Amino acid sequence: MPESQFTLKVFRFDPDMDTTHRYDSFTVPLREGMTVLEALFYVLEEKDPSLAFRYACRGAVCGSCAMHINGSNRLACQTQIVNLKATEAQVSPLPYLPLIKDLVVEMASFYQKMDEVQPYLITHKTPPEKEYLQSPRERKKLDSVTDCIWCAACYSACPVVWGDPEYLGPAALVKAHRFSVDSRDQGGMERLKATDSEEGLWRCHTVFNCVEVCPKEINQTEAIEGLRRRTLKRRLGWK
Ligand code: SF4
Ligand code: FES
Repeated sequence: MPESQFTLKVFRFDPDMDTTHRYDSFTVPLREGMTVLEALFYVLEEKDPSLAFRYACRGAVCGSCAMHINGSNRLACQTQIVNLKATEAQVSPLPYLPLIKDLVVEMASFYQKMDEVQPYLITHKTPPEKEYLQSPRERKKLDSVTDCIWCAACYSACPVVWGDPEYLGPAALVKAHRFSVDSRDQGGMERLKATDSEEGLWRCHTVFNCVEVCPKEINQTEAIEGLRRRTLKRRLGWK
């Protein structure tokens, strides 16, 4: 095979027609900078219009195109073929999420967990006339955790989620942490109901799979540890 081509092996399953899944192989002409998402588009447009996959922004912003690529959860639009350092790419849906078709999974359980931690600013006082002010130092505390794009790569990679579908999972706990360190937020007690529970932050086994796969380089384990410390302080009445 010429160097300018590579093989894309794509997981296929159509619940209306198939009883089991299979992998279809496609030869894709490689061009400089080509991403896995672009290779999937090539297959869709040139080889098989029935292929199903999700995408929206094509720029690592919307979180729609997370999938399992050569053994790791990644964003298809962020993964350049050349960086896989392999002659072929095997693409599967995110593991442990219910399958809808081909590379498309059901995200409802993930979104429900995110909703449980109330991922928005909660305030109990009358809002200021213009805007909530925050010092640069206060804002800096959010830097490492504001970038989550809800892609579920970490959720799908977490062995605790695999064994316990009720566990909130790393992304929801990162979101709870993100608001717990926000100087404008007053929803700490409300969120504790979800996070300080059997299925919440004490369930994390610090496996670090989440940290390895996050396309935004968020350190979920560190965030969960921070949330644990603040929760203990609350329990002891220090905060
Ligand atoms: S924490 Fe990272 S891996 Fe998890 S949902 Fe957010 S962006 Fe995706
Ligand atoms: S298409 Fe939006 S993150 Fe990949």
